[in-house]
Amino acid sequence: MSQTILVTGGAGYIGSHTAVALTERGHNVVIVDNLDNSSIGAIETIRRLTGKEIPFHEVDLLDSDALGAVFDEHPIESVIHFAGLKAVGESVEKPLSYYQTNLISTMNLLQQMENHHVWQLVFSSSATVYGDPEILPIPESAKTGPTNPYGQTKLMIEDICRDVAAADDRWQISLLRYFNPVGAHPSGDLGEDPQGIPNNLVPFVMQVAVGRREQVNVFGNDWDTSDGTGVRDYIHVLDLASGHLAALENIEAGCDVFNLGTGNGSSVLDVIKTTEHVSGQAVPFEIIERREGDIATSLADPRKANDKLAWRADRNLEVMLADSWHWQSRHPNGYAESES
Ligand code: NAD
Ligand code: WQD
Repeated sequence: MSQTILVTGGAGYIGSHTAVALTERGHNVVIVDNLDNSSIGAIETIRRLTGKEIPFHEVDLLDSDALGAVFDEHPIESVIHFAGLKAVGESVEKPLSYYQTNLISTMNLLQQMENHHVWQLVFSSSATVYGDPEILPIPESAKTGPTNPYGQTKLMIEDICRDVAAADDRWQISLLRYFNPVGAHPSGDLGEDPQGIPNNLVPFVMQVAVGRREQVNVFGNDWDTSDGTGVRDYIHVLDLASGHLAALENIEAGCDVFNLGTGNGSSVLDVIKTTEHVSGQAVPFEIIERREGDIATSLADPRKANDKLAWRADRNLEVMLADSWHWQSRHPNGYAESES
C-alpha cells in the first residue's frame, strides 16, 4: 500500500537512491536534509529520474521545531532515517560534534514522531558496530564493540531505539546494519559524491581511474586474507535501497536488527583489478602501511534479512563497479559539474 515516507538525509548517497526506489514503488516521499554533505543537484536528479516534484525541506535535524513543521505539513506515516555524520577519522578528531549531531538529531526525530503519532522507523546503522569481529561471517547476534566515536553513535542510537520501542508497543523499528555500500544508479546520474579526498576505497579508486588522482594507496598487504589486502562485503546501493523497501514492508512491532550485505568478500586488489576491467583504465597502486583502526575482514551473514525480509543482494562486484564507473565517468566532479 502506498505511504507517505519521510526520508531524512535524502540528498545523500544512500538516501537519494532509496528515495528513487520508494517513489518508483508508488510511495510519496518527503525529503529533509541540511545539505551538509550533499548538494541540491541530487534532489534535482531524484525529481528528474522519477518525474515527481518530490517535496524537499532544507532542515537541520538539530532544529526540532523546523523538523516538527515538516511533520505538520505532510501526512507522514513512516520514516527512513539516513541523516547524520559518517566519517570515521573525523569522528576521532571531533567526537563531540559526532555525538551531538547523530544523537540529538535522532532524539529530535523520535520526539517529533511521537508528537505526530508516527510509529514506523527504519534506521541506518552500520557493520562498524561489530568492531573487530570474532566470528565470520558476522551474524546479528555477534558481540558489538565499535572502535571509534562514529561507531559508538550508531550503537547508542540502536540502544535508544530499543528502549523507546520497549516502552511503548506502538513503535515498529528496523535497525539496518549496512556493510560496504558502493555502486550508483544505472542512469549514471546519481552516485556517491564525497567532499575532498575520499576516505573510502571505491570512490578513491574511481577518482584514480578517471584521472583525478595519481594512484591508490593500498593500506597493507600483510593481512590474514587470501591476497594479504583487506576483505570487505561490498553491496550495491540499489540492493541496499531495496533492502529498505523490504524492511518497511515487513516491519513488525518492537525493534529488530538486520545485516544488509551479500555474504561475499572482495579484497582491495579485487576492487582495483575489477575496476580496471570494467573501465578499461589503468588503476596504478602502491602498497603502504596499514591504516590505523582497520581490520582484516568484514563479512555479513545476511540470512536473517534473506529469511525475514524476503530480501537478497543480487548484484555482484563487477556490476557494482561498472555502475560506479558509469557515474564517475559521466560526472568526474560529482554534482559540481563546473569544478575543474
Ligand atoms: P551521506 O553523507 O551521503 O548522507 C547523509 C546525509 O545526511 C547528507 O546528505 C547530509 O547532508 C545529511 N545530514 C547530515 N547531518 C544532518 C543534519 N543534522 N540534519 C539534516 N541532514 C543532515 O551518507 P550516506 O553514505 O548516504 O549514509 C547514509 C547513512 O547510512 C548515514 O547515517 C551513515 O552513517 C549510514 N551508513 C553509511 C555507510 C557508508 O559506507 N556509506 C555504511 C553504513 C552506514
Ligand atoms: C575498505 C578496504 C581499507 C581506502 C568504512 C567505515 C565503516 C563504513 C564503511 C559507515 C579496507 C582499504 C581503503 C584506501 C585502501 N561506513 N583501503 N586504500 O574501512 O571497511 O569501512 O566505510 O558506516 O564504518 O569504517 O571501508 O572503503 O574505507 O576500506 O587500501 O585509500 O579498503 O584498508 O581494507 P571500511 P573503506
